Amino acid sequence: MLNLIIHNQSEDQKKAVDVIASENIRILEEAKTGENCYADSQGWLDTEEWAGEENIKRLEEIAKEIRENADAFVLIGVGGSNNAARSVIEALRKDDAPEIIYAGNTLSPDAMNRMMKRLEGKSIYIDCIAKNFETLEPGSSFRILRKYMEKTYGEEAGKRIIATGTVGSSLETLCTKYGYTFLEFPLNVGGRYTAMTNVGLLPMAVAGIDISELVKGARDMQIRVHEESAEKNIAYQYACLRNLYYKEGYRVEMLSSFEPQFRFFYKWWIQLFAESEGKDNKGVFPVAGEFSEELHSVGQFIQDGSPIMFETFLDVKKQNASLIVEPDEKEDYFDYLDGKDFWEINKAAYHATVAAHRKKLPCLTIEVDELDAYHFGQLFYFFQFACYLSCKIMGVNPFDQPGVEAYKKWMFEALGK
Ligand code: PA5
Repeated sequence: MLNLIIHNQSEDQKKAVDVIASENIRILEEAKTGENCYADSQGWLDTEEWAGEENIKRLEEIAKEIRENADAFVLIGVGGSNNAARSVIEALRKDDAPEIIYAGNTLSPDAMNRMMKRLEGKSIYIDCIAKNFETLEPGSSFRILRKYMEKTYGEEAGKRIIATGTVGSSLETLCTKYGYTFLEFPLNVGGRYTAMTNVGLLPMAVAGIDISELVKGARDMQIRVHEESAEKNIAYQYACLRNLYYKEGYRVEMLSSFEPQFRFFYKWWIQLFAESEGKDNKGVFPVAGEFSEELHSVGQFIQDGSPIMFETFLDVKKQNASLIVEPDEKEDYFDYLDGKDFWEINKAAYHATVAAHRKKLPCLTIEVDELDAYHFGQLFYFFQFACYLSCKIMGVNPFDQPGVEAYKKWMFEALGK
């Protein structure tokens, strides 16, 4: 279950959200049925399309073989080809799963050399994930890693190399020619919307994540936001609220949590909203707040600085860990914590922060029952659908990224492509 809590809404604001919701009701209705103009980008709208039972079964079989034979699995990918998998893996990976090493997301030789060093002496499998196999970071890393695999495994290398690319791409040609396993990167899903496809699911399965549960969570959220009426629809309400705050002059949204397990989920969420909404001189700039640590840095600005931001907290209801503070006779003046559980202390910090921040800026909470694969699935679908609606209300195309393409062109020119 996922809930949206609004912490400090005035009657006037409530009315203003209702106006936005009724003015844009057509957007919600069109989104539910899928729009012809975006047909080539909406393969994620129905999770059945790329995460049906048959596909999950196949991915689980490939993952099982990798888990049985690998010490480490290298995920080569950048942006949408990496963020969804990484956010779940870094939160929930099983201890007995192969180590997951990330590559193809940097051009720094120092970082790449360090990454290569981590491969030494380990049994390795690699997966190069790229929709547009012209992208420099994954393409160049794949070349380096292919050479390493050939040197280490000789003729057997091909069996340990996977590529996830579009049908008809040069990546597919490489697979056919050299006997690598080819997985389809859906042509009708943009990178940042690919959590429920081969792109996100295979690496997660290798890390021991229950991908059936993840997809079930996304599927249940899909059914929910397609069925709920406008007034109850959490994705639509969140999209309308964002747009209201934007109109009121708030230009930054901070996604904050007291749970470091969300560390890489922030990255996924930032990419989703920044690339989808940030265009035509519009958009809310997404940033993340890793609390409680960053309360001791950006907390000051949030509380007292320019009033440019609203805050969306991510909160987990069910306790997933425990650590009790034991009494200690040495006088450190922390006796007020005696017998308390850090779970409870962390929650108190969350409630105190909301109480302080809501005095200054609009504050929302997205609350999930549990921090598990099912709820990650819920969060992925919820935010993707809400982002799509939010972009439509703002009047921008949710699925292109002209700015990213422009920078890639400059980079190719600089390198003499
Ligand atoms: O969301 C997107 O489409 C982009 O951010 C891409 O994921 C990113 O640029 C990586 O591209 P590619 O999959 O072609 O390597």
